[in-house]
Amino acid sequence: MVIEAKKHTNKGKVADYIPALKEANPSVLALSIFDGAEFCFTAGDSQELFTLQSISKVLALALAIIDCGEDEVFSKVGMEPTGDPFNSISRLETQVPNKPLNPMINAGALVVSYLIKGDSPEHKLERLLELIRKMTGNDTISYNKEVASSEYLSADLNRALAYFLKQHHIIEGEIEDLLQYYTKQCAIELTCHDLAKIGFVIANEGKGFDRNEIIIPVKVARLVKTFMVTCGMYNASGEFAIKVGIPAKSGVSGGILGAVPNRLGIGIYGPSLDEKGNSVAGMKLLELLSDSFELSIF
Ligand code: DON
Repeated sequence: MVIEAKKHTNKGKVADYIPALKEANPSVLALSIFDGAEFCFTAGDSQELFTLQSISKVLALALAIIDCGEDEVFSKVGMEPTGDPFNSISRLETQVPNKPLNPMINAGALVVSYLIKGDSPEHKLERLLELIRKMTGNDTISYNKEVASSEYLSADLNRALAYFLKQHHIIEGEIEDLLQYYTKQCAIELTCHDLAKIGFVIANEGKGFDRNEIIIPVKVARLVKTFMVTCGMYNASGEFAIKVGIPAKSGVSGGILGAVPNRLGIGIYGPSLDEKGNSVAGMKLLELLSDSFELSIF
């Protein structure tokens, strides 16, 4: 299946609006599947490290809800999907109140990042890393400094979104600190093996592979899974739900996190992207997997 899906890598191109992401090899495709047993099933270039980018939005949302509770989080960010691109500013202006439509678009993710508790950008990052290390069982996970600074120096669209949100009293405080944190959060680096383990915890209602250990509360796991279905593939989420039917979240590095409820965690890496910012071969691979193993939740 990986070989079949790999044929699609030449149909897209790697992200270039974050300069450091341009270096990725577009023909790479990696898959990892974890069902809670001792080992992950892996295929393709599974040792490749990549950054989470927007996949981090799922984990940051879980942490913000754990920190502040659902009521506070959703007083500042909505729950509705959008047909606009992930970095669009247009709805922020036309919508009253000006809160972002959902936590999976950049504007919403900036609000979520603002809500995560911590005395400094480094403290917030350490707390998110701690959650990710618990979910993966991998204590070495950290962030890629080069990617983080490359994004920080070129993040003027996110900067504009954040200043807009501050002007409208959705967020407060120092915007540069928020961007320091947000760009490091997006630059957290792992393999598709780690990603499959994260997917497993979300699929397994917040419990780790040691079934007694609750890593995130069941309600939070269900909530983030629902956002993955409705908003996880941005303005391709509707078609993806029909063709694949797996709660999933993509990132512009080419990663895709999948969580098949009560069954599997899936991690994919394929940096060649379509025009909506989703991994072309990764989506094809999920479609093949879903068809072959009846993974659709619908
Ligand atoms: O904020 C950004 O633009 C990036 N750090 C993340 C965007 C992203 O991954 C969108 N995904 N498809």
